[in-house]
Amino acid sequence: MPALQDSFGRNISYLRVSVTDRCNLRCVYCIPLQGIPFAPKSEILTLEEIQDVVQVGASLGIRSVRLTGGEPLVREGIVELVEMIREIPGLLDLSMTTNGVLLSSYAKRLKDAGLRRVNVSLDTLQCDRFKEITRFGTLEDVLDGLDAAIEAGLSPIKLNVVVMRGVNDDEILDLARLSLEKPFHVRFIELMPIGDFFRPERVIPAEEIFEKLQTLGPLKSMEGLTGCGPARSWRWEGAEGTVGIIGAVTQTFCASCNRLRLTARGTLRPCLDDETGVDLKSALRPFVNRRKLSNLFREAVRIKPESHTMVGRETTLPYHCMAGVGG
Ligand code: GTP
Ligand code: 5AD
Ligand code: SF4
Repeated sequence: MPALQDSFGRNISYLRVSVTDRCNLRCVYCIPLQGIPFAPKSEILTLEEIQDVVQVGASLGIRSVRLTGGEPLVREGIVELVEMIREIPGLLDLSMTTNGVLLSSYAKRLKDAGLRRVNVSLDTLQCDRFKEITRFGTLEDVLDGLDAAIEAGLSPIKLNVVVMRGVNDDEILDLARLSLEKPFHVRFIELMPIGDFFRPERVIPAEEIFEKLQTLGPLKSMEGLTGCGPARSWRWEGAEGTVGIIGAVTQTFCASCNRLRLTARGTLRPCLDDETGVDLKSALRPFVNRRKLSNLFREAVRIKPESHTMVGRETTLPYHCMAGVGG
């Protein structure tokens, strides 16, 4: 039996590592405008501690690592961290989820350091609307970042669009068209009931998004796009990239979930939708104890729930915020 098999027979091979809970944006669906209580620096795992955790994870069967935040590119030493992780035996895939604002100056350095690919948030192609959704930041910076990512050879490049009724649903086709001309894999994500922005009426279910996409022409189902995440993907004839849908709530993919999350404070979270988890600090400070870390990994897998509980949820828990768990 694989070292990290959970009580529902799922094999855990994917670790999402939140390297900071801070972010240079305040996307409406993620962080309230007034911000959240960020952890003091002393509580955030050091680069060496993150490396230790990934090493132990890899020895137990973790094969893919995704660096997330907050915004991973605001973490000091992020390029060094990529270098520290890239050589860990057993790892097959090293990727990052970023808002793209700083990507133009980092793309080449990240690629050279050993990052394979990036997923970038892009909810709109309209400058004013970009400001409204992210409250800071400039669309142009993200578009420059995407060009830099292509140039640097980061591949595949996936775009994350959180679809919100009355906010950006009129742009589904414009965003989808990006996949025709450029090697972008544009994924439309159902708004999840996490954070104070959520309202049931803002959700556009996956099926409705799919119907809209089909109006642009027949879609061919795609298998085998790099990544073992939750998106279902299709391609239009002749397109460079693909379109995808992440139906986080109406098409729950928990049955095939392969992931654990490491928070910036050093807790292993068994599920995105769960505030509980296993604190690794006691196995890291004052000295790293690899045997204890292995046991804590197993414990996190042991308590992994069968599924999230977001279906039908109409209100969100006040403390719940995506930036803390890295999406
Ligand atoms: P790859 O397939 O490896 O490229 O990664 P990914 O698509 O899982 O990563 P990304 O960080 O780009 O996440 C895309 C969207 O999927 C975000 O909105 C995430 O919050 C959501 N997501 C990722 N993992 C999970 C999960 O385990 N459960 C749920 N419900 N949503 C997830
Ligand atoms: N619902 C759906 N997706 C979300 N993300 C952040 N908050 C939410 C939410 N409430 C997505 C962002 C980012 C990824 C890590 O998580 O699009 O790309
Ligand atoms: Fe920052 Fe990403 Fe949250 Fe936006 S979604 S506020 S970019 S962590």
